[in-house]
Amino acid sequence: MDFKLILGVMTLLVVPFTTGSSVTFTRTQCDLVKFHGGNFQNSGIVDGGFKRAIQRLNDYAEACKVKIYITSSFRKDDKKVLWGTIVKPSKISNHFVGHAIDMNLMTPLIDGSRHFCNSQCLGDEKKQTKGEKCFLFQIGHDTTLRWGGNFSTPDPVHIDDGINKRNRAEYNRLFASLQTNCKTV
Ligand SMILES: *[C@@H]1O[C@H](CO)[C@@H](O)[C@H](O)[C@H]1NC(C)=O
Repeated sequence: MDFKLILGVMTLLVVPFTTGSSVTFTRTQCDLVKFHGGNFQNSGIVDGGFKRAIQRLNDYAEACKVKIYITSSFRKDDKKVLWGTIVKPSKISNHFVGHAIDMNLMTPLIDGSRHFCNSQCLGDEKKQTKGEKCFLFQIGHDTTLRWGGNFSTPDPVHIDDGINKRNRAEYNRLFASLQTNCKTV
């Protein structure tokens, strides 16, 4: 078999199993990537190490028929202090290393209108559509993602991968690199 034929057969096998709309990533400065499209209404900026989490969120939104509106992603720590050559964070936030997003959800309804789920809605199951509940359920069953609504100080718009707890050394490395080299976006 020649290469083109192998490729054709592989495409036929793979295509039916891929989900509908996929996210587009574009490299920005540093190790940050910009993502948009798929089930994201707008765009956000994350560390390259958080790309797969973004892809999973896109898949969950697809399965639950909701759209994700990003309200915050990578952030600069404007209050950080410089101790010689060591950059000390003002607080440990996964936004500072591009491993967190803040979002609202949107559900397209059959009458053509949309249900908008903001912080208040995300924090109150009674205000959510079936799709919005479904999306949070998927995050609850993801082995690495954490939902801020379950934090001791609830932050229902927040989703991250807990890199600050799982791997503090990597958090510190990313913080020093991204906070020093990347411009505010
Ligand atoms: C929140 O915590 C509950 C109780 O541990 C868990 O069942 C649920 O899956 C969590 N939800 C999310 C979205 O993480």
